[in-house]
Amino acid sequence: MPPTPLRVGILGCGVVGTGLLRLLVDRERAIAEAAGGPIRVTRIAVRDLGKRREADPGKAAVGIDPMAIVESDDVDLVIELMGGVDPAYPAVLRALERGLPVITANKHLISLHGPELEAAAARSGASLRHEASVGGVIPVLQSLDQGLRTERFTLLVGILNGTTNFILSTMEREGRDFSEALDAARSLGFAEADPSLDLSGADTAQKLTLLARKAFRTDVAHGSIATEGIVGMELEDLRQADRFGYVVKLLGIGQRTPEGLDLRVHPAFIPKRYLLAAVRDEFNGVYLRGEASGSMLLYGKGAGALPTAQAVLGDLIAVARERRMRGTGGSTKPGSPPSHEPEAKISIDDVRTKYYVRLLVDDQPGVLAQIAQRLGGSLVSVAQMFQEPGVRGEASITLLTHEARDRDVRDAVAAIAALPTVRRAPRAIRIFDR
Ligand SMILES: NC(=O)c1ccc[n+]([C@@H]2O[C@H](COP(=O)([O-])OP(=O)(O)OC[C@H]3O[C@@H](n4cnc5c(N)ncnc54)[C@H](OP(=O)(O)O)[C@@H]3O)[C@@H](O)[C@H]2O)c1
Repeated sequence: MPPTPLRVGILGCGVVGTGLLRLLVDRERAIAEAAGGPIRVTRIAVRDLGKRREADPGKAAVGIDPMAIVESDDVDLVIELMGGVDPAYPAVLRALERGLPVITANKHLISLHGPELEAAAARSGASLRHEASVGGVIPVLQSLDQGLRTERFTLLVGILNGTTNFILSTMEREGRDFSEALDAARSLGFAEADPSLDLSGADTAQKLTLLARKAFRTDVAHGSIATEGIVGMELEDLRQADRFGYVVKLLGIGQRTPEGLDLRVHPAFIPKRYLLAAVRDEFNGVYLRGEASGSMLLYGKGAGALPTAQAVLGDLIAVARERRMRGTGGSTKPGSPPSHEPEAKISIDDVRTKYYVRLLVDDQPGVLAQIAQRLGGSLVSVAQMFQEPGVRGEASITLLTHEARDRDVRDAVAAIAALPTVRRAPRAIRIFDR
């Protein structure tokens, strides 16, 4: 007897949903082979039934009620591709309570409600997968859940947002300023009409939350990660980075330290020789350092219809195989949800880091001494310093610090900013060279 089809309900048919439907049609045979039987989309929910779509829904019933899909009897598995929290959260929760496996690409939902949803999945025995929520096509969550499940990671550094990486790469390569690079990102479809979640670092922080939960096996609350974005990044900072042998990247960092887990998102100077320095444009990269495995870099497209749909498809095949195995009495679960152990987190104030600082000051005797005094007063020592004369009696001072407590450097920079001889707000960017 031919295997019965796996019946799929898809909530949302926008960019990713359309890409998924296309892959399901184009690769029907290969997918059925990999999944151990055919996949059939039986239901789709959208918001606006009148909208013109490129995707062919085939024989699927298209409606506007996601809840009706998770309650229906002709769906074995739910794929959530609406985004946002409402109605995604109640729909995913209900599906899991009913024992239906759920796949989602929704980083916001998992960052905010991941622990409750995992608990609901554990209660009903359904699986919850969200590979597409971090790093697009890069199979980082599957790797952390399976082959690397027992590794003890000491460091995780991610370039997790294609929009900001495209902007920084364009500034660096083409010498364009921030707003020109943002316009270029918009015109090429790498930035949304409202890119504030990307530019503020919030998107990277949500993804780091998900990665850190898996890599460090610890609870990380939504919104608990110290976050700075790239708004206001100046071309001159990228030029200075280049001069000192660095490039500027927006990083999500997770680091085990003797004092606790250090989690943060901010732009940083990284050495040009680092593999992550070669992650440019809309690409993402996740660097991991584990006690047994050493260093590795996972690299690929972080967004887009087909790369994201491909990640969803990977989850779909994994769930389909689980179900088939269950049918033959084999062990099925991808592994119970990782046991999350509480681990102390250290505040960004107490992180030890090097800094780049750029100042515009009056070109007059004594200014350097005032600056050195503010730095010394906060226990910050200088590794390198350059002074260049400017126009109209001003001078530009660029300095790199030795490692110091983050809060101390920020206090010193604030004290320097208050000096009457300092002409504009200093630029201060952390250096990450671990
Ligand atoms: N786009 C990417 O490259 C990418 C990459 C990684 C992850 N993701 C994640 O994937 C998810 C989907 O993103 P997307 O870019 O495909 O979004 P999108 O293009 O805005 O599509 C959202 C879809 O959900 C439907 N929808 C929204 N609210 C609904 C509601 N209340 N009831 C029924 N349907 C509703 C929309 O219907 P209408 O079509 O009728 O408006 C649309 O079809 C998000 O969680 C996103 O963060 C996207």
